[in-house]
Amino acid sequence: MRLLLLGGTAWLGGQIAGIAVERGHSVTALARGTSGSVPPGVHLVVADRDTPDTRDTPDTRDAPDTPDAYAAVPGEWDAVLDVTRHPGHVRGAASALNERAAYFALVSSASVYAANDTPGGTTTDPLLPPIDTDLMQGPEVYGEAKVACEQAALAGFGADRTLIARAGLIGGPGDQSSRSGYWPWRFAHPGTPDGAVVVPDVPGLATQVIDVRDLAGWLVDCCERRTAGIVDAVGEMMSLPEHLAVARAVAGHQGQVLRADPDWLLAQGIQHWSGERSLPMWLPLPEYAGFMARAEAPARAAGLHPRPLAQTLADALAWEEPRGALTDRASGLTDDDARDLAERLRSGATTG
Ligand SMILES: NC(=O)c1ccc[n+]([C@@H]2O[C@H](COP(=O)([O-])OP(=O)(O)OC[C@H]3O[C@@H](n4cnc5c(N)ncnc54)[C@H](OP(=O)(O)O)[C@@H]3O)[C@@H](O)[C@H]2O)c1
Repeated sequence: MRLLLLGGTAWLGGQIAGIAVERGHSVTALARGTSGSVPPGVHLVVADRDTPDTRDTPDTRDAPDTPDAYAAVPGEWDAVLDVTRHPGHVRGAASALNERAAYFALVSSASVYAANDTPGGTTTDPLLPPIDTDLMQGPEVYGEAKVACEQAALAGFGADRTLIARAGLIGGPGDQSSRSGYWPWRFAHPGTPDGAVVVPDVPGLATQVIDVRDLAGWLVDCCERRTAGIVDAVGEMMSLPEHLAVARAVAGHQGQVLRADPDWLLAQGIQHWSGERSLPMWLPLPEYAGFMARAEAPARAAGLHPRPLAQTLADALAWEEPRGALTDRASGLTDDDARDLAERLRSGATTG
């Protein structure tokens, strides 16, 4: 297969490129090369998909002209796989490649849905309104930007040769966000004198992590088979306590687990999900009860079979280990914050 990867220099794209090359495909990646390099055997074409027309943000509107990025990848393609979040990129790809590509796969996101409060959601659920600009202006409109990307893909290539893969939370080795790596790392390195670890006490919250390698392999499968349609590409659903138990087992943690009420955590200034002073995998209920609880059966029927979470978290931990007690992880608590939080919980502190 001649595969054109729009991206390929970052995490998921790099995995896709590597797997496709291992399977003997001819892989070209088109990217600026600013996010990283491509795996061995992948032909990187350095080009910028932004154009004067798509530069509609004040900081990019006056950027210098660039040649048509897609002219740098001439010829015919059996499959094009795009990881962009900018609708203008998809429109540009559709216009340039529509007649040169047999198949188009877009990596979208489960963040496209208008509501996240109901478990068991499917791809027919209502979506957020699409953005009407070519560039996603900021992470706060990520879901809306992906909706616009999806619409551009379907309009440009047609539903019968387009895959929209709405990925759930992606985890595993290489997860720069540390959303999947934090918990196994924290259980391996509690940061407290007696090894105790504070966890959010939210038994009713579902988690659903898809291993980056399983998602990448399945996307290559789809390109090989030209699988069209819209799929929630999600991992195995389990409760937050089950997820944390897997993380704990993987880390070999023997210390105490201190369950903290979510309202108490918020009062201490601890954030949901990601960012500074956060506890990953933790989301507010009831509004996020369905965010990591999307129906899995359609993805399994489409051939996406994730490995056990224990493998994903063990490999995420191995990847986190050399990063040590980073103070600038993208998610989680520092050792000082973890120790302070455990002390406060034990002392019955009620405010931050
Ligand atoms: N992380 C999650 O949990 C999660 C969940 C759901 C969905 N997703 C989706 O999963 C995908 C992750 O993909 P990823 O990790 O490979 O990539 P990424 O971090 O989204 O990076 C985007 C890719 O596009 C390239 N790119 C960006 N701007 C460009 C431009 N102007 N011209 C040419 N290339 C450009 C980047 O390369 P250069 O910078 O080198 O140009 C990079 O390879 C995304 O679609 C994301 O939305 C992620």
